[in-house]
Amino acid sequence: MTSGEAKQRIRELKDQINEHNYRYYVLADPVITDYEFDQLMEELIRLEAGFPAFTTADSPTRRVGGEITREFRQVVHAYPMLSLGNTYSQEEVIEFDRRSQKLTGGEIVYVCELKYDGVAIGLRYDQGRLAMAVTRGDGVQGDEVTANIKTIRSIPLLLRGDFPAAFEIRGEVFLPREGFNKLNQEREEMGEPLFANPRNAAAGSLKIQDSTLVARRPLDCFLYHVLGEQLPFDNHYDNLMKARDWGLKVSPYVAKCLTVEEIFDFISYWNKARYELPFDIDGVVIKVNSYAQQTEMGFTAKSPRWAIAYKFQAEKASTRLLSIDFQVGRTGAVTPVANLDPVLLAGTTVKRASLHNADIIKKLDVRIGDTVFVEKGGEIIPKITGVDESLRPADAAPVGFIRVCPECSTPLIRKEGEAIHYCPNEEGCPPQIKGKLEHFISRRAMNMESLGEGKIEMLYDNGLVKDVADLYDLNYQVLFGLEKIYSAEGDKKEKKISFRDKTANNILDGIEASKEVPFSRVLFALGIRYVGETVAKKLARHYRSIDRLMQADYMELMLVEEIGEKIAESIVAFFRDPGNVRLIERLREAGIRLKTGKEEVVLASNKLENKAIVVSGVFSRFSREEIKRLIELNGGRNVAGVSSKTDMIIAGANMGPKKLELARALGVKIISEEEFVRMLGGADSE
Ligand code: IVH
Repeated sequence: MTSGEAKQRIRELKDQINEHNYRYYVLADPVITDYEFDQLMEELIRLEAGFPAFTTADSPTRRVGGEITREFRQVVHAYPMLSLGNTYSQEEVIEFDRRSQKLTGGEIVYVCELKYDGVAIGLRYDQGRLAMAVTRGDGVQGDEVTANIKTIRSIPLLLRGDFPAAFEIRGEVFLPREGFNKLNQEREEMGEPLFANPRNAAAGSLKIQDSTLVARRPLDCFLYHVLGEQLPFDNHYDNLMKARDWGLKVSPYVAKCLTVEEIFDFISYWNKARYELPFDIDGVVIKVNSYAQQTEMGFTAKSPRWAIAYKFQAEKASTRLLSIDFQVGRTGAVTPVANLDPVLLAGTTVKRASLHNADIIKKLDVRIGDTVFVEKGGEIIPKITGVDESLRPADAAPVGFIRVCPECSTPLIRKEGEAIHYCPNEEGCPPQIKGKLEHFISRRAMNMESLGEGKIEMLYDNGLVKDVADLYDLNYQVLFGLEKIYSAEGDKKEKKISFRDKTANNILDGIEASKEVPFSRVLFALGIRYVGETVAKKLARHYRSIDRLMQADYMELMLVEEIGEKIAESIVAFFRDPGNVRLIERLREAGIRLKTGKEEVVLASNKLENKAIVVSGVFSRFSREEIKRLIELNGGRNVAGVSSKTDMIIAGANMGPKKLELARALGVKIISEEEFVRMLGGADSE
C-alpha cells in the first residue's frame, strides 16, 4: 500500500468508526456486529502502526490511554458547578412547584431526569473537538482530567452536525453495575481493597494518574446540562435533545412534565424501575425548562432555585441472622455468607447476604441471632450494613472464622496484609477443581458452550474429569447415558438429567472446537492466579509460546512490561509444580494451541522483528503506551530495563540519566520519537 492510499483509507476508517460509535453509544441502534466493528478497528490500528505519521490526536484508536498525569491541573469553571437542593418527600416537591410559580408568575414546564450516582464532569468542546474535561472540585475550580475522560468510549472526541463553536456540556461519569462487580472481583482475587460502591469506584478511577489503567475500567457517561453563549434554543430540553444530534450521549430517560402529578408519576415509576437499570441512580432531578424562567428564579449560594433533586430512600430492611456459611471459590478464597430470616427488600425476597471477610465480621461485631440491617446497594448481592444491638439476645454467639476448609478440611491460610482466607489445597479441594474447570470452559477462555456448570459437576461427580486435560480424554461411550438425579432449590420433586445422543455429540464438538482457541486465551484459561485476560494477552504477545514462558525466571518476567512481583511469582510457582507441567504436556498432546498462531498477531510490518526495545521518557506526539503498541505491531518486543540484550532505546524528554548512562556504556542505539516514526514509514510523502 502506498502512503497516499494508507492516508485515504485511514480517513475512511476513522469516519466509519466514529459513525458506528455514535450509533452504538448515543442512538443505541448499532448497524454492525461487535465483530465487524472490531475488524474495522483492527484495520485502523494496523494501518496507523504501519504509517504512524498519519495518526491524529482524535483517532478512535487513541482511547487506550497512555498519558500519565502527575498532578491534575486546577481549572476554574466558566460557570460555577453547583449542587442541587435535596428533597425526600412529595410535600417538598409540591412546595418547590409553588415557589417556582410564585417566582416566575407563569406556567411552568418541568423536565424530569434521572439522578445518576456518579461523578460530575464538565466537558468543553471547541470547534467540535473535546478540548477539556474538568471535575466538579469545590464548584469554583476542579481537576483537569481530559486524558482519563478520553478513554470513555461514549464521549465523542469529535462532534458532528451544527454544533456551536464553543460550549460546555456537563454530566455524570459512572461505572455500570456489571463493570463494578467485575472490578471488585478482580480486586478481591488480587487481594486489593474493594470499592464500597460504583460511585466510589468511578471517582477513584478518574483520579488515577495512568490513563492506561483508566481505559480498562468500563466507565460510561450521561450528559444532562448544556451551557454556552450561542446555544440554538431558549430552553433546557431542546438544547439537550439537540446535543444528541451532535453525537453526545444524552439519557433517553427524560420527560417533560406539566403538573406535580406528572412529576410524581415519573418519580414512582423510576423508584421501582431503577433496579432494572444496569447502573445506579439515587433519585430524580426536576428542572424548570425555560431559560427565561430559570434566570428569573436565580440561585442560592450553593444551588439553583430552578432545580431540585428528589432522593430515593435507601432500600433497607432488618431481619435475623440465622447462621453463616463459608463458601470456597475457584481461587480457594473463602467467603462468609449470612443466612437470613427471609425479608422483602427492593421487591425481592432476600435470604442470603455477603459478609465479605473476617475483618468485616469483626468490624460489625455481628453474632448469630442478631437483628441485622440489610441494604441493597449497587451490588447484586445485598449486604449487611449494621447490627441492632438493642435487640441482641443474651445468648447470641460471636462468629468465629473457620480454621479449616469446609470442603476438604485443609487448614486455611491468610497472607500477610490480605483480608481474605484461602484454602491452599488447589489440587484436591472440590470447589476449586470444579471452579478451575468452569473457568477453563467459560466463554472468554476455551468457550465450550456445550458444557456448563451443571454438566461439569456431573462429569466431576462421576469421576470422569478431575483436571482440564481430562476433558480431552472424553469420548462418546462414557458420555452417552450419563445420569444425574438432583433436586433444585425450592423444588420438592427430584429431577433427572441424562446425556442423550445429541448432548454427548455437542459436548464432544465443543471440546474439539476449543483446539482452535488462540494461545492467549488458553493461557488465560489455565487459571494461573493473577493472570487475567489482559495479562495473558501481554504474556502471549511477549513470549509467543508456552515453552518460552515456562523457561522464564522471576527476574526475566519482572522485566516484561506491566508484569509485577505478584504476577511473576505466581507464574514461576505455577510452572515449578510438576503437576502443572504434566498438565501442559497432556494439553499439548491433545492438540491445544500453546503458541501464537499467525492470525493472532497480524502485524503492521516486520520492521522491528524480535527487537528488544526500551521506551523511556515523555513524548510529544504519542503517549508512551502508544509507542509501545507501535513497537509490538511492528514485530518488536517491549522490555522495561536496559541490558546488554536491548537492541534500541526510544528516548523522550526527561529520560532518566542513569538509564541513559547505562545505555551509552552498553552501546545501545538511542533514537528519538521522530526518528522512530520515520523509521516505521509514512512520513516521507507528507
Ligand atoms: S443538574 C445546576 N442533572 O447531582 C444543575 N445533576 O446534587 C446541577 N446529578 O452535581 C446539575 N444526575 O453531579 C443534574 N440529571 C442530572 C443529574 C445531576 C446526577 C448530580 C450532579 C450534581 C449533583 C447535585
